[in-house]
Amino acid sequence: MFICRARVFDTPTSPFAGGTLRSDSDVALVVDDGLIIARTDFASAVSGHPDAEVVDLRAGVLIPGLIDTHVHYPQVRAIGYLGKPLLEWLDHCALPEEAKLGDEAYAAVVAGEFLTGLTSAGTTSAMVFGSHFATAMDSFFTQAAEIGLRITSGLVTSDKMLPETLLTSVERSVSESQDLIDRWHGKGHLRYAVTPRFSFSAGQELLAAGGQLVADNPGIWVTSHLNENRDEIAGVAEMFPEALDYLDTYDRAGLLGRQTVLAHNVHPSDRELARMAEVGAASAHCPTSNSNLASGFFPLRRHIEAGVRVALGSDVGAGTGFSLLKEGVQAYFMQQLDPSGGLPLGSAHLLHLATAAGAEALELSDQVGDLSVGKRFDAAYIQPSAGEPLAVGLEHASSDDDALAKIFAMGTPADIARVWVDGQLVKD
Ligand code: GUN
Ligand code: ZN
Repeated sequence: MFICRARVFDTPTSPFAGGTLRSDSDVALVVDDGLIIARTDFASAVSGHPDAEVVDLRAGVLIPGLIDTHVHYPQVRAIGYLGKPLLEWLDHCALPEEAKLGDEAYAAVVAGEFLTGLTSAGTTSAMVFGSHFATAMDSFFTQAAEIGLRITSGLVTSDKMLPETLLTSVERSVSESQDLIDRWHGKGHLRYAVTPRFSFSAGQELLAAGGQLVADNPGIWVTSHLNENRDEIAGVAEMFPEALDYLDTYDRAGLLGRQTVLAHNVHPSDRELARMAEVGAASAHCPTSNSNLASGFFPLRRHIEAGVRVALGSDVGAGTGFSLLKEGVQAYFMQQLDPSGGLPLGSAHLLHLATAAGAEALELSDQVGDLSVGKRFDAAYIQPSAGEPLAVGLEHASSDDDALAKIFAMGTPADIARVWVDGQLVKD
């Protein structure tokens, strides 16, 4: 048991639904076996739990662990290629690197690098786009389980349009996926996600085989890409002439539901948004990726108005790193700049998108997403070095909302001093 005495920022009520930032300049969180059992003033916490260790975090700001709803494990070494649209970027930057994960030893090293990327950035839960290789997924799940992160992930499947080494068959995809589900789904904090790469590289039978896995394994997840790039969308329309639209290629395969997270959705139709809202599927918004690949402006307002859940994703490696603080400020920039009228965002919106909204999209809200009593203690402690512009900014901020805005504007993984999952330190 320990008592965290801290300045705490979180967003238990969505600012998109009238909530505001909850900020406490000096509050005590009593954590017992990973669970927040009290949130009170320090004197009461100490008198109620006199033997508990006290962790004094008043020099910085404590926020809920960040939640990344779209990030690619095999692309950690592909971060930073600039200047190409999606399909060229895949061919020249991402896929040659992903092919290397066929080597189990190489994949094990990359899995470690990837998980360090998450924890360094303060990310404690993630929907992770996996590898095309089952051996690489075993390495990844093994290491993720050791650290304890809340990870949902699965074998990526494709049977066309990609380099030969990345392709599978319907039968192989089913047997390898089922083996991975049996080994990993529900183990500790791990969950399995059926992961067709995108309809551009998956035939109808392969998609339907994924839908069958979902039907056969209640509780597993689905993730993929949707409506990211105009050439990709045109290609999918040509490949699936019978489908109503891109979303429908997943829907008619049985892949669409409340446990489905689709990345990007930069160019949705009204029908697609209405259908996502109807079934409860969520969009992962990945603003640095959308900017890097010039995919377009994410229609956040249309998503919110349609009732589609949205949360942030880093989309490493088309995105420019693991930091959800950077994704937050980039989301803000893009809404500011959108010529068709973006949604003005304040710092509380950004924190919500990076924490509680992610928990909602991943159906983890009963456990994480804010630092209320009854939640698991997943948290990131932001403490910039003394004298750094962010430290100075936090000292002189005129309000807590402004202090939070400075965290998003200037914060980097170097400012994240400590990270806990379930009360256990995963970065110190
Ligand atoms: N669509 C299919 N694969 C990918 C990928 O790796 N990154 C992005 N951004 N979009 C994709
Ligand atoms: Zn992606």
